[in-house]
Amino acid sequence: MAPIFATVNWTDGTLDAPGMRSLVKKLGQLKQVFSDQSAHAQMDPETVVYRVWWWEPVEAGTEGGLFWGTTEILPGKVGKEFFMTHGHQHAIRDRAEFYGTVSGEGMLVLRDENGKTWYEPMRPGSLHYIPGRVAHRTVNTGEMPFRFIASWPSDAGHDYDVIATEGLGARVIEKDGKAVFVKDGEQ
Ligand code: 6PG
Ligand code: NI
Repeated sequence: MAPIFATVNWTDGTLDAPGMRSLVKKLGQLKQVFSDQSAHAQMDPETVVYRVWWWEPVEAGTEGGLFWGTTEILPGKVGKEFFMTHGHQHAIRDRAEFYGTVSGEGMLVLRDENGKTWYEPMRPGSLHYIPGRVAHRTVNTGEMPFRFIASWPSDAGHDYDVIATEGLGARVIEKDGKAVFVKDGEQ
């Protein structure tokens, strides 16, 4: 087999990989994700919220393979709610994933299939195991770009539907200058 390799800058998480993919998510694409609709309507829909660069060393859908990617969430808020990813479950529900924080500070918001919601603080060096069947979203709670690396199974896929309609059962908002994790229905 030919050598398959890429280069990661471990200081800033940037990736240089053969056939590297990337995507950009802007505010206009994330309307239903943030709770404060009137704050959202007043912001420029072209504002970049996050970017993902990733490497698919095997074809998407391959059983037993792995992917690798870097996500960068820019600092910002919609109303009181911090910029965050859309959030998803894996389409093949039992597929797990690793996240490792490179720079900035954030929160990993998780929800299991019983509706239990919790979070893990993300700081440079923190490594997070996201078990299968657990929906996940990341939030930039700081004032700098927040970057983490991820590795997930090449057949995991993404299911955005449940998060788009139900959310994750909690939101991360700024309160008295601090990032606070607030469960739905709590103050
Ligand atoms: C994945 C990872 C990760 C994630 C990005 C963007 O399964 O691919 O969890 O790469 O996709 O951080 O988040 P959203 O997919 O929720 O937009
Ligand atoms: Ni994932």
